Amino acid sequence: MLKRNVLLGLGGLYGAANLAPLATAAPSPPPDFKTCSKTTITNGPEVPYSCCPPPLPKDTSTIPYYKLPPMNKLRIRSPAHLVDEEYIAKYNLAISQMKDLDKTDPLNPLGFKQQANIHCAYCNDAYAIDGKVLQVHNSWLFFPFHRWYLYFYERILGKLIDDPTFALPYWNWDNPKGMRLPPMFDREGTSLYDERCNPQVRNRTVMDLGTFGDKVDTTELLLQTNNLILMYRQMVTNAPCPLLFFGARYVLGTNIEAPGTIEKIPHIPVHIWTGTVPELNAPEGKPKYGEDMGNFYSAGLDPVFYCHHGNVDRMWNEWKTLGGKRKDLTQPEWLNSEFFFYDENKNPYLVKIGDCLDTKKMGYDYASSPTPWRKFKPNKKSSAGKVLDTSLVPPASKIFPIFKLDVNISFSLDRPASSRTQVEKDNKEEILTFNFIKYDNREYVRFDVYLNADKNVKPEDLNQTEYAGSYTSLPHTHKPGDDDHVSSATLQLAITELLEDNGLEKKEKIVVTLVPRKGCEGLAIGCVEIMLVDC
Ligand code: C2O
Repeated sequence: MLKRNVLLGLGGLYGAANLAPLATAAPSPPPDFKTCSKTTITNGPEVPYSCCPPPLPKDTSTIPYYKLPPMNKLRIRSPAHLVDEEYIAKYNLAISQMKDLDKTDPLNPLGFKQQANIHCAYCNDAYAIDGKVLQVHNSWLFFPFHRWYLYFYERILGKLIDDPTFALPYWNWDNPKGMRLPPMFDREGTSLYDERCNPQVRNRTVMDLGTFGDKVDTTELLLQTNNLILMYRQMVTNAPCPLLFFGARYVLGTNIEAPGTIEKIPHIPVHIWTGTVPELNAPEGKPKYGEDMGNFYSAGLDPVFYCHHGNVDRMWNEWKTLGGKRKDLTQPEWLNSEFFFYDENKNPYLVKIGDCLDTKKMGYDYASSPTPWRKFKPNKKSSAGKVLDTSLVPPASKIFPIFKLDVNISFSLDRPASSRTQVEKDNKEEILTFNFIKYDNREYVRFDVYLNADKNVKPEDLNQTEYAGSYTSLPHTHKPGDDDHVSSATLQLAITELLEDNGLEKKEKIVVTLVPRKGCEGLAIGCVEIMLVDC
């Protein structure tokens, strides 16, 4: 478990300023193939096979940059719960062709397992550049990496069935009608069916977009409501700035984590909900580590992975329509960051983030589906509309650092300014920031944050104006022999809207409450502050 000393000797370099530019910044270069090495199952031993791409041309410096091909007809990705039998048959055929490649030519980069290995290699630390491990999660690489990954995956499937307009479906979990496993993935004996999927997803169960394995005993209706509230908070309230939506800038080789709002929720909970419950004592041949969807090394082995990421990708497009400062990042070190993929003709290419900002230019788009979360602002008050007396709780300075979060903790916190005008609000976002969140990164972790809430706030009902947001983390890997299992993370929540909705705008101090939800017994938090940030 975490010891007191995890909080000592903090470099103080990155944590505090994810929204502010760093003095030096470089794009993330493509992987260094020569160093592609063994990968480790998160929380487990080495992956028993190689996740590295099949042999590449000797001189990898000659891999060309990919140019988007001219496009005749857009591929339209549809909601998975609405597609017809003809489409399902086509999709099954394409996936089974892909699986057949594994049998006839296991090193074919277009095969089903090789495609799944792409995720394993980029996500389970197979690549290092100058000795620094490359990781495409927990930062601003998350959306673009997965966009490019699906782009090629979709083209490969289309090629295999000779249909240049073939498009992946998307798992419409942001809409109540799509908050179950799409039925096409639940037909035993078809190529879309993954046996290694949690039995709980089978019986048309409604999912919990915030679940970290913590069971909320409640009605389907309340679950759907909570899900829409989480969507509203992650898309609207907490993502007014690009870096909050995309995640913080990527610094190669670090494990400072500041994923974007959607990467945290619902992206990770959907993985956990669909994957098996980790069971280290499971008999040989049975899933032990949350396979398939619940562990990054195996997630790509469940066909639903690509359907899930279709909707994650769609959220990027939706977010840009919400207005304000919600636009793509413009930093050259983001635009020029590179990845490597094989195209549908087995040719290796380098791609740049700057070339994937417009899905129509890439040749695909999303069939529209209602987005009720846009209007799903929480409207119940746990504090019965009272502004809580800040003198009844200890100040943050008395509480931090926190060494374990095993019960609800409330404290008062100073604001840098109060009674801000609209112009001031437009100029700077008010951000509640927790730095040096440290925990054992072999665990699922989640805690929730409330402003001005009753200390005994009931976490199963998120429909509360005081609910600010959540921190979540999925277990992740380390190289064998590396026994530093401590992650250092930052949580930033935009609170302007919450201050307005809870009558706190004029207050110089506010009451903040932390509610542990999962894996927080060993969680420590170094410090907290409210900052005004120009985004
Ligand atoms: Cu690369 Cu959903 O994870």
